[in-house]
Amino acid sequence: MTKPISFILNGDEISCDIQDHWTLLHLLREELGLIGTKEGCGNGECGACTVIVDQLAVNSCLYLAADVQGKQIQTIESLAVHTGSLHPIQQSFVDNGGIQCGFCTPGMIMSAKALLDKDPGADQETIKHALAGNICRCTGYVQILDSVAAAGRQMAGNQGEGAAAAKDPGTITQQSMNKKAGEVIT
Ligand code: FES
Ligand code: FES
Repeated sequence: MTKPISFILNGDEISCDIQDHWTLLHLLREELGLIGTKEGCGNGECGACTVIVDQLAVNSCLYLAADVQGKQIQTIESLAVHTGSLHPIQQSFVDNGGIQCGFCTPGMIMSAKALLDKDPGADQETIKHALAGNICRCTGYVQILDSVAAAGRQMAGNQGEGAAAAKDPGTITQQSMNKKAGEVIT
């Protein structure tokens, strides 16, 4: 049966008709053309399809599209498209060898983002736990864990700079200098 839903997708309001049996993964890839989210196992075991729903990482292959009504969805496309440059987590995967074939990478990055948005200082065990549902057949995981930890350090540093600048409006950070110069801020 078809039903109308509306939700926020990567900051944009979306209204569309869905079938009751569609998964969120189907809606994203097949109906909305957001193919950055990958389909691996299709049954909740690999994490390739991970997206963020209301700040929680979920397997979109197991999440009914009907259940996103009124919710906020972030996919991998939200990270670089709006800023024009790589998100710190993406850049860290590049810099630390966290990507080989890349198939698991969007899911890994969205799991990492759900964690680091809340806890950029997460320790190794917490990172491992957050990524436990994401399988990689290439890297051996060490570089992935290093990538997430390094991204967390950078995000924590960025938050610290922002807080300091907010306390002291006269402080000119590198970020505010870039902003004044009209450059893209990550
Ligand atoms: S495709 Fe969803 S968990 Fe594997
Ligand atoms: S980089 Fe190939 S599956 Fe992870």
